[in-house]
Amino acid sequence: MATMQEWLKRLEREGNLHVIEEPCDVNLEIAHAAYVEVKRSDSKVLLFKRPVNREKGIEYDMPVVMNMFANYEITEEIFGRHPDAIAAEIGELMHMKPPQGFKEKLSLLPRLFSLKNVFPKRLKQRGSCQQIVKTVSDVDLDELPILKTWSEDGGPFITMGQVYTKSLDGKMQNLGMYRLQQYDKKRLGMHWQIHKDASHFFDQYKEAGKKMPVTVAIGGDPLYIWCGQAPLPYGMFELLLYGFVRNEPARLVKSITNDIWIPEDVDIVIEGEVDPDEMVIEGPFGDHTGYYTLKEPYPVMHVTAITMKKDPVYQATVVGKPPLEDKYMGWGTERIFLPLLQTTAPDLIDYHMPENGVFHNLILGKMETHYKGHAKQFMHAFWGVGQMSFVKHAIFVGKEAPALIDYEAITEHILNRVDASRLLVTEGIVDALDHSSPEALVGGKLGVDCTGEEIENGVTATIGDEALLAAMQTIDVNVKGVRQYFTHAKTPVCVVAYHKERCVQAFFDDIEGLHEHIRLLVVVDAESNDIENPYMLVWRVANNIDAQRDVRKTPFIMLDATNKNALDGYEREWPGDVKCDRKVLDSLKERGVIDFDDALLQRFYI
Ligand SMILES: Cc1cc2nc3c(=O)[nH]c(=O)nc-3n(C[C@H](O)[C@H](O)[C@H](O)COP(=O)(O)O)c2cc1C
Repeated sequence: MATMQEWLKRLEREGNLHVIEEPCDVNLEIAHAAYVEVKRSDSKVLLFKRPVNREKGIEYDMPVVMNMFANYEITEEIFGRHPDAIAAEIGELMHMKPPQGFKEKLSLLPRLFSLKNVFPKRLKQRGSCQQIVKTVSDVDLDELPILKTWSEDGGPFITMGQVYTKSLDGKMQNLGMYRLQQYDKKRLGMHWQIHKDASHFFDQYKEAGKKMPVTVAIGGDPLYIWCGQAPLPYGMFELLLYGFVRNEPARLVKSITNDIWIPEDVDIVIEGEVDPDEMVIEGPFGDHTGYYTLKEPYPVMHVTAITMKKDPVYQATVVGKPPLEDKYMGWGTERIFLPLLQTTAPDLIDYHMPENGVFHNLILGKMETHYKGHAKQFMHAFWGVGQMSFVKHAIFVGKEAPALIDYEAITEHILNRVDASRLLVTEGIVDALDHSSPEALVGGKLGVDCTGEEIENGVTATIGDEALLAAMQTIDVNVKGVRQYFTHAKTPVCVVAYHKERCVQAFFDDIEGLHEHIRLLVVVDAESNDIENPYMLVWRVANNIDAQRDVRKTPFIMLDATNKNALDGYEREWPGDVKCDRKVLDSLKERGVIDFDDALLQRFYI
């Protein structure tokens, strides 16, 4: 176990920390710098020594650390070993059989003893996180360098808060990572979405008409925050996972004004209570889908105390378009949760969530099939279990497929097998952040069964991009560009940049005659997409599609990935995607805080 301060020293020694002495503003500057930095392949952790709020005239007396999970190397260090090794340990435990004979019993002992470390230890004394105590009359959230990360955000947000809650009967504890909007000096918005554990606890307090105690911790061992986002089943305290990974129990102390227990070595602690009858508008907020989540009512926490270390570090993150630090956190989660997924899908060999599919929007699964419909069975299993049920698009391949992270090879493998007859379009729950479904929380799902043999007949007559563009423009002048990918595969991907003056479904009707040249068509808005940028095309398409509305199967597969509006019968407000303020970026560059070129900005739609 190491404190945040010890981690920073270690990262500095290893050359993995970039210390920024230049004063940087909590309004956009710190977040923009971190956003650009983490998109580099050699990105480092950033420590802003002198955060300021120029608008409010504040110079904070604590540094801000951003991108704690800045790359694979650091993430592995935080876990203490490769996440695959942790997965293997979990897998071994899950398949543990009663020992046969004395020798086997002996060899089991170390494992059983180490399991005692899983359970957190409750300490009687105060923790180092309680060296400074401010009770309710002295509480002032303005003393913390809380960031406003995007220009259209509804205000400043705590973006890396460990939110500790407990069930009404006190039997279950939970740690969840939920963003918290700062409303004023003493109130925070609690963005626990409806599917999440703290929201279930909240319902219990609401029904009982009781106030809900909550404690938010910031900083400490970075593994705490990773545990907070880990999708453990309801009722399982995430700090058990902490103990398992660290092989050391989490050491907890009681909050000062409520009876929620928190790790003793975190940097900052915000204690309070939530009145279940009070809901306040939260957001908008530039989210990890790369789009803003819009205003919605959420519960409010009234802060009753703030405690901290003498030398606290404020940990924060920025979410937005990929890749960001949640890429590295998500990598750990993906690897470590494989053996748990295999309990519901035993023939699953591997799975992968590409970063530009922003986790729940796209999943690839490799499996051994034993019977007809096996892949479809897995799709339903995924869509029916825990947070996997948020997954919108799931593609399954057989055991002979290339590695799921070899994007070039796996895409070709899929394109040689995809066919309208292998698509499953259905409906299920979607993440609260999903903007493409016609209604919130429920939407379309697309499963693609690419297990088995290649299709027999691929595209009949491929033609070049220019010829295809000309053919389309004679049908519809709103076609502004055509770019085909994987033309050597049985199903090339034809991407069309479309100026949307009418519903894309009408365009689909009109181009059915081009079936000899196209097997898979993807339409995106001409104005906001670069059809030469496949990384961001995947991001856009996986985000913008609702399979029930936007996938057509005949006479070839067509996907409408444009922004939706009244033309499509879409009645919700379609959110904008997040964009950095160019003036802020230029100023950061001039002051030597970050460096970037236009190619980087274009590559990731910064
Ligand atoms: C950077 C980041 C920010 C997140 N913000 C939120 C959030 O504001 N609200 C939410 O419900 N989940 C958020 N999540 C996802 C949850 O942390 C995740 O679903 C977690 O498993 C929830 O824990 P629970 O199952 O104990 O509720 C975020 C995840 C990350 C990585």
